Amino acid sequence: MIDIHTHILPMIDDGPTLIQESLEMCRIAVNDGIKKIIATPHVQNGMDDLDENKVLEKIRMLNQLLKQEGLDLVIFPGAEVHLNDRLLDTDILRESSILTINEGKKYILLEFPFQSVPPETEQIIFKLKSMGFTPILPHLERNYRIQRNPNMVVRYVEMGAILQVTAQSIVGDFDAVPLKCVLWMLINNLVHVIASDAHSPIARPPILSKAVKVVSEMLGEEAAKKMVFDHPRMILEGLPFST
Ligand SMILES: [Fe+2]
Repeated sequence: MIDIHTHILPMIDDGPTLIQESLEMCRIAVNDGIKKIIATPHVQNGMDDLDENKVLEKIRMLNQLLKQEGLDLVIFPGAEVHLNDRLLDTDILRESSILTINEGKKYILLEFPFQSVPPETEQIIFKLKSMGFTPILPHLERNYRIQRNPNMVVRYVEMGAILQVTAQSIVGDFDAVPLKCVLWMLINNLVHVIASDAHSPIARPPILSKAVKVVSEMLGEEAAKKMVFDHPRMILEGLPFST
């Protein structure tokens, strides 16, 4: 499996603080059947608080450690970019490849606030698409506004955005509200990708298999596998997205 959304690098955001914790998360991922991970540290304001060299250096270091430990896992670069209108009036995405998945300048993981949906969301999706980027919208099942009106995501998907939900929402690790919302999205065939959004070895681990089992029972094994194999591979490799 490929996990496209994780906070697995040490000392860079609200993910692990120690390299040992990163390594422990990697061991958990390997045991779960994950072979590739995209590290997506939070970026609050474009490049203001993300040092590209630092991210790439941490990834190199972690990949080297994985080799030394004999773990069959590779980490790739990415970012979780805070959704704001700076994305509209700047060429920052064209100039800075680290903000896109695997530096491919094709897919961009946007970060939504949990309490609200920014009014410019549709405008941003439209603009990004017209610039040749495909936006990935993570964990909208955890957004309070979407939870009250999940129909909003239908429009985003129609506009060509990719819907990524969190594995722990599907298995009910948060609470009943995101669970109900994510099940609605799944039943309505709106979900493209399941990712872990891992932050730690214990509370937020990189585990996808439990969610895949739930989705397999709901929608069939083929549909579930697309969400952790085929679709993440297209995103990682910068290929055109097809369902
Ligand atoms: Fe995240």
